[in-house]
Amino acid sequence: MDMVRNFHMAQGLGETSYAQNSPLQKEVIESVMDITLRSAMEACAAETVSIADLGCSSGRNTLSVVENVIRAVCERRREATQQLPEFMVFLNDLPSNDFNTLFSLVPEFVQKLKAEHDDGGGILVSVAGAPGNFYGRLFPSSSLHFITSFTSLHWLSQVPAGLLNNEESVNKGNIYMSPASLPLVATLYFEQFQKDINMFLRSRSQELVVGGRMVFSIIGRMSHDSHEKINECPLLEALEKSLSILVSQKLVTEEKLDSFNLPFYAPSTQELEDQVHREASFTIDSMKQAHDWTIHEYAPKMLSNFSRAIIESFICHHFGEEIIEPLFETYTQLLCEKLVAREDIGWSKIIVVLCKSAAS
Ligand SMILES: C[S@@+](CC[C@H](N)C(=O)[O-])C[C@H]1O[C@@H](n2cnc3c(N)ncnc32)[C@H](O)[C@@H]1O
Repeated sequence: MDMVRNFHMAQGLGETSYAQNSPLQKEVIESVMDITLRSAMEACAAETVSIADLGCSSGRNTLSVVENVIRAVCERRREATQQLPEFMVFLNDLPSNDFNTLFSLVPEFVQKLKAEHDDGGGILVSVAGAPGNFYGRLFPSSSLHFITSFTSLHWLSQVPAGLLNNEESVNKGNIYMSPASLPLVATLYFEQFQKDINMFLRSRSQELVVGGRMVFSIIGRMSHDSHEKINECPLLEALEKSLSILVSQKLVTEEKLDSFNLPFYAPSTQELEDQVHREASFTIDSMKQAHDWTIHEYAPKMLSNFSRAIIESFICHHFGEEIIEPLFETYTQLLCEKLVAREDIGWSKIIVVLCKSAAS
């Protein structure tokens, strides 16, 4: 059993993992659509174009990306009066993802594209699931032209092993690399991130053809100094605070909170750039960071539900189902206070476009 699956099983992540598409993730996808389409048009010149979306989840977001990519590639071919290609689309997520729901959307998606391009030859779009851990090989060598992965890579393959030292937590009271964590915690998280991203890049570099592109978005830190005490993930910070309120209400024991950590790491652009250079198979077409302010337009309950969909199974497994309702009530209340006080609860995302270079 691979590391991620191991971890997810250990965390009790079965059918209800953090795999639901949400309006917030949709917004991320819409914001990266232009750059995605431009990169796709550069990368997809073959007769049969192979595309993969990694960490696709089970909703419509993933298909909307692929749909737009296919449309853009076809348009480019038409402009050049070239024959339309055939498309092979691979949808990847962890095996626990709800692929049944995703696949139920596929016939309509394929039909829609076919109808749009049915001017004589029509187009062929073949869709396949690729369940597996993206921190490792998923596809044959040099078989893909274009890869996308949105809002997924900040999830590490596992919680850094050193956070629990002989059953003793080195991250007491915190649930991720938070502003209150010790410098050692930041180091351990960074080391895990390095291992994971290197494995991700190495695997993708083997799977992409030379000149193939990969576009991904990841939640990132604005500050490069990981030991700096800045609250860069306010939604997780509020969750951490909510759990400590439950400790004070004796609904959760201190030991339980101390031993809970999320496999989450938000890198800086500098860290990402360093890792791409270190792995040495890609050139960086573009790397941009943007802070998301629109999050303030959402109601606290909706933001709370968004976090809940992603994190509930981690919490349930570690603390038990009985704390879910009081926890997310407290959490919604805290978010409400933050929104009323006009505190910044947005996050920063990094959008990266890589091109597989010849010499690797
Ligand atoms: C927040 S969702 C993003 C879904 C979709 N890409 C979007 O933007 O709407 C993150 C997805 O990444 C998947 N994921 C996390 N770690 C993964 C891994 N190691 N391998 C494959 N998928 C993974 C999760 O199961 C989840 O479906």
